[in-house]
Amino acid sequence: MKHKRKKISVIGAGFVGSTCAHWAAAKELGDVVLLDVNEGAAKGKALDLFEASPVENFDSRIIGTSDYKDTAGSDIVIITAGIPRKPGMSRDDLLATNAKIMKAVCLGIKENAPNSIVIVVSNPLDAMAFVAKQVLGFPRERVIGMAGVLDTARFSSFIAEACDVSVRDVSAFVLGGHGDTMVPMPRHCSVGGVPLTELLDSATIDKIVDRARTGGAEIVGLLKTGSAYYAPAASAVQMAEAILRDQKRILPCAAFLQGEYGVKDLFVGVLCKLGGNGMEKVIEVKLNETEKAGLDNSIKAVQELVAAMEKLEF
Ligand code: LAC
Repeated sequence: MKHKRKKISVIGAGFVGSTCAHWAAAKELGDVVLLDVNEGAAKGKALDLFEASPVENFDSRIIGTSDYKDTAGSDIVIITAGIPRKPGMSRDDLLATNAKIMKAVCLGIKENAPNSIVIVVSNPLDAMAFVAKQVLGFPRERVIGMAGVLDTARFSSFIAEACDVSVRDVSAFVLGGHGDTMVPMPRHCSVGGVPLTELLDSATIDKIVDRARTGGAEIVGLLKTGSAYYAPAASAVQMAEAILRDQKRILPCAAFLQGEYGVKDLFVGVLCKLGGNGMEKVIEVKLNETEKAGLDNSIKAVQELVAAMEKLEF
């Protein structure tokens, strides 16, 4: 019987990209193509990972390449290419350089993997997803930004730590852009089904919200030479898994809004249903005044970023 495995292409073989390849292969999501302009790095990391498969017992072919032709037939493409930030930089400082890289990458994907579902990971995330959507010309179901899963993962890990419970029992989400204005949603968070607001006092919750918001910068400050990669890669692969296995998971992702929350033609982090068709639905959550003000502020920050980008030549 002929059996075809799913195919996942990961663009960028840096820390985030190679960690995505690692997790996708270990979960046996399919065969993996790791692509980088540095062909040696892509080939070397792919071969090294493939050679780990008999030890870890996963069946996944992993190849490295710098040729976009090798992405042909991909079910999913995860784009991680771009420069990371250094201490003192905001994600927005990466705009000009990464917009150029994103454009080149998307031209390669459009030509070679026109039916793929694309997950954008590069920063500044909401603006890079916008460039990707423009260059690819794919419907919004097939261009999704990864940020909310990561921001939520940070929020959830700090909650689990504060409550001294399993991370499995924390249910939470974060809305808005992937920047300092993101909006963690404590009112919608529960631990084993019990509202978080009944378990922790508001000062503790505020501290956790703040730490989640600046979670990326906390890691950059510690690493000094780059940004986080384990949690970002795990988050992108969770989205890929939800799509490849048609799980219909409800996850916060950057989606190209078409009137939801009063926003049109902009990527903003919202709750989405991810399944076999990609971003199958945006789920609008009822917000109170404070949450709405927070989300509006975050939307404004993304709008300003996209406006600044549109003035650049790339
Ligand atoms: C972070 C970067 C990767 O949040 O955006 O860690």
